[in-house]
Amino acid sequence: MFSKLTTRLAPRLCTPGTTIASRQLTSQQVFEREDKYGAHNYHPLPVALTKAKGVFVWDVEGKRYFDYLSAYSAVNQGHGHPKIIKALTEQAQVLALTSRAFYSDVLGEYEEYVTKLFNYDKVLPMNTGVEGGETACKLARKWAYTKKNIPKNQAKIIFAENNFWGRTLSAVSASTDPSSYEGFGPFMPGFEIIKYNDVQALEKALQDPNVCAFMVEPIQGEAGVVVPDDGYLKKVRELCTKNNVLWIADEVQTGLARTGRMLAVDYEGVKPDILILGKALSGGMYPVSAVLANDDVMLCIKPGEHGSTYGGNPLGCKVAMAALEVLQEEKLAENAFKMGELLRSELNKLPKDVVSVVRGKGLLNAIVINSKHDAWDVCLKLKENGLLAKPTHGDIIRFAPPLVINEEQMLESVDIIKKTIMSM
Ligand SMILES: Cc1ncc(COP(=O)(O)O)c(C=O)c1O
Repeated sequence: MFSKLTTRLAPRLCTPGTTIASRQLTSQQVFEREDKYGAHNYHPLPVALTKAKGVFVWDVEGKRYFDYLSAYSAVNQGHGHPKIIKALTEQAQVLALTSRAFYSDVLGEYEEYVTKLFNYDKVLPMNTGVEGGETACKLARKWAYTKKNIPKNQAKIIFAENNFWGRTLSAVSASTDPSSYEGFGPFMPGFEIIKYNDVQALEKALQDPNVCAFMVEPIQGEAGVVVPDDGYLKKVRELCTKNNVLWIADEVQTGLARTGRMLAVDYEGVKPDILILGKALSGGMYPVSAVLANDDVMLCIKPGEHGSTYGGNPLGCKVAMAALEVLQEEKLAENAFKMGELLRSELNKLPKDVVSVVRGKGLLNAIVINSKHDAWDVCLKLKENGLLAKPTHGDIIRFAPPLVINEEQMLESVDIIKKTIMSM
């Protein structure tokens, strides 16, 4: 199919610098082109999308789907939110990028806005979630040597088993998933792993005086939406304070209204020393991430010791402010909470011998399939029936629609899920 396409169009369109607009292609042709020219580092569901609005996406043949992945929770505000598009297009025409070699009249506005909103002294702007994680680890190490007096190069950071914070060498060094780390050694030293949701393990690990930080997701997203026991985060806060260890909360996926609160840590009324945000910080419009901390931590990093060409650019800053405003103006945390309750109560009506577990908070949810079908097959069937979701592991499917979903859309989409699963 692909070779037919290229031979047919090659002489006219496939010269360097020209491509075939996807709108002219069938889904199959889209798959084949990506497969031929792109690295094979993903295994997408076979659906070729061309447009999106709110909770819906459309494929190149014009079929509409409920988006139950929301670009891994980046599109909390719904696809194509007009306020975020306006911020993007207006700022793009004025000043997009200065680099941090110069000041811009937008960065400070954003810094003031985001620090006041989350109640931290300072923010360090980056682009992707994994850069946020890297930044937090660097900050913790710098703090270890300048404030905690840990001997040079001896600082340790503790992570939880089954964590996921991205794909850089540091992130995979902290991973316990062989498909993330296998074949990419040697790994970052000074990283240690303990069990998630295990207070005793944390208590023991923190007794080592060379530990400078514990980095943890309030709910483990990629691990399959693993929700810790009530009180775990409170205990994490307590133990980190007691042992003079920084608590780094990775809220890249759980943050920004996804779990039914602005931050997932808000459920327990606790404040991390370092907070990492990403994904929905731009409403899916542009990569924006942020690391927030108070002065005693943030000012450990001095000029020239960390940065990014795009981090804190005016375009990203305006987009982030609009994205944060949308979350508040549209009360998306409240809606996520309400719709999440509805989703789980409907999913809990499925027979337990088919769906053994329904778990989650707000609109970050997962089911565990307990049948002869694996999650991938269920997702293929859901796709046929008009809903896109992604398996996280063999038998787990995450359900995380945009937070703008209304009750009618929720009932319609959950009906697709129930009918699909029962038909299998
Ligand atoms: C909790 C968490 N942290 C960090 C990341 C990495 O974000 P990014 O893919 O933007 O680098 C992810 C991505 O899924 C994540 O879920």
